[in-house]
Amino acid sequence: MVKKKQLLENEQLELELLLEGIYRRYGYDFRDYAKAHTKRRLEYRRTISGLNNYAEMLHQAIYDEDFFTSLLLDLSINVTEMFRDPWFYKEVRELVVPHLKTYPFFKVWHAGCSAGQEVYSMAILLEEEELKERTQIYATDFNERILSQAKKGIYPLDSIRQYTANYLKSGGLQSFSDYYTADDRHVILKSSLRERVLFSSHNLATDGVFGEMNVIFCRNVLIYFNKELQERVLQLFCESLCPGGFLCLGTKESMKFSTVMEHFEEVAAREKIYRKKRR
Ligand SMILES: C[S@@+](CC[C@H](N)C(=O)[O-])C[C@H]1O[C@@H](n2cnc3c(N)ncnc32)[C@H](O)[C@@H]1O
Repeated sequence: MVKKKQLLENEQLELELLLEGIYRRYGYDFRDYAKAHTKRRLEYRRTISGLNNYAEMLHQAIYDEDFFTSLLLDLSINVTEMFRDPWFYKEVRELVVPHLKTYPFFKVWHAGCSAGQEVYSMAILLEEEELKERTQIYATDFNERILSQAKKGIYPLDSIRQYTANYLKSGGLQSFSDYYTADDRHVILKSSLRERVLFSSHNLATDGVFGEMNVIFCRNVLIYFNKELQERVLQLFCESLCPGGFLCLGTKESMKFSTVMEHFEEVAAREKIYRKKRR
């Protein structure tokens, strides 16, 4: 009889082969995602697809592109909202915006932007601070499907109550309804909010530096990566930021463990806002 320890080792081997197969077949690299998260999401898909193990999943994933697309959606958790953590946006207004006001032009990068709510929140904030004309916003994600939703800026009507409450708590200066129209099922954000935004595909696990940024948002993305991949991505952000540039992480994320921390100072501890030191 195969011992329990051996079974677990075999399962681990099958999991590694599945992730290797996905990488070699499609170029998406999940090998350094947090193991517990990856297993939870794969287990969900395995069960609803009636597959017995990861070896069967590997076969299905490499021969059936639609199945792989479902896996991709499972592995890239897209949960987001407008003005998520309103107190974070309040601090951005109070601590980051005054510095941006001293620049004639600046660039903001939203890495892992999901369906765009974070991007439009920042676009609204910058418009209200009369900085829109001086801004170029880059919004990236590795999931093409979610990126095409982001470009549209159309969200379910039932989300608007939460978004409005967040906006007000974040220190919004207008009525939130100024920024959208609605039909019976959707809210459609004003197209002018997109004027300074470029949406494009970028994979934090495999792609390189993304221009000379003044502000980088990467919120609630690193949490899905293991420490090695977090370190790689934080290096990438350090190289992509101008001296004096700001890095904003999610509330459950940190760069304190990282070797790049020495290049940064903490601006707001709870909000996870860091600033790259000037040499
Ligand atoms: C939970 S959402 C966070 C969205 C938004 N930043 C927020 O805080 O509300 C995580 C996003 O990271 C993206 N993502 C995951 N792995 C990625 C990678 N390797 N490269 C780029 N984006 C990635 C997912 O597709 C997803 O849209």
